[in-house]
Amino acid sequence: MIGNMRTIFVVLGLVLAGSVVAEPSSTVVWDSATRHLVDSADPGRGAEVAEPCVACHGKTGTEKLRPNFPLLSGQTATYIYKQMMDYKESRRGHGIMQNFASSMTPQEIADVAAWFQSLSLPPAKQETVTEHAVKLVGKGDGPRLLPPCAACHGRKGEGAIVDVPALAGQNKDYFVVTMQAYKSGERGNDIYNRMRLIAASLSDEEINELAAYYAALGND
Ligand code: HEC
Ligand code: HEC
Repeated sequence: MIGNMRTIFVVLGLVLAGSVVAEPSSTVVWDSATRHLVDSADPGRGAEVAEPCVACHGKTGTEKLRPNFPLLSGQTATYIYKQMMDYKESRRGHGIMQNFASSMTPQEIADVAAWFQSLSLPPAKQETVTEHAVKLVGKGDGPRLLPPCAACHGRKGEGAIVDVPALAGQNKDYFVVTMQAYKSGERGNDIYNRMRLIAASLSDEEINELAAYYAALGND
């Protein structure tokens, strides 16, 4: 009887805990230990870890890769680290990347992130940039409470504050695919819903224009 009661309480406790505590979008916390791990990582060791990665993610940003694969040269180390940990912990879903990440240690992830960051951002591409995209990036859109992209991603799309990715020179197709994934909620590893909320208030046309804007930015 007592055993049964205990089981009931435990089950009830789990049900309540489940309904009150939502799954966090990421388990990465930028405490001093994590900052230290990423800041003190070794790009030399990272170059070895990166050998299987380069075929899909490039090294110079000029390789002819699948356009829906993200370029990683010059990407911020904090962002790469967070994404790899999110794949590892199944906060971001993708078969190939979850396999890679789950076989890597946090140290290897930090090292490979430091190596990619040490490279140059991909070069700028020839794209048609609309006035509207320039306005969204630099000013946002007040009535929609849309903040300017540049406030977080930097004036040159270089990535700025902790865990915000560089966007300059990124493949247009990948940019669009991942923005659509935020928009539908399929990608939900952004802390505080920041990118999901932003993507949801953009039209498909605006997402395409922003992809062209950032592809045209590049490393100069
Ligand atoms: C066979 C191709 C392939 C290989 C090899 C590969 N990746 Fe990926 N990677 C992808 C694809 C495709 C995506 C986009 C997945 C998605 O949409 O979530 C991705 C996404 C990523 C991202 C997130 C990028 C972003 O801008 O959000 C990181 C970081 C990453 N990979 C790192 C690595 C590392 C490090 C390795 C090597 C250990 C590696 N990848 C090997 C195909 C690959
Ligand atoms: C409040 C800060 C903030 C603003 C404003 C912002 N972003 Fe982001 N963005 C982020 C963060 C943080 C991430 C990484 C989230 C994650 O971990 O998935 C991100 C991720 C992205 C990615 C995914 C990059 C990749 O490599 O997968 C794209 C694309 C992007 N943002 C585009 C935009 C555009 C376009 C705008 C303006 C309309 C914008 N962002 C405004 C903070 C911001």
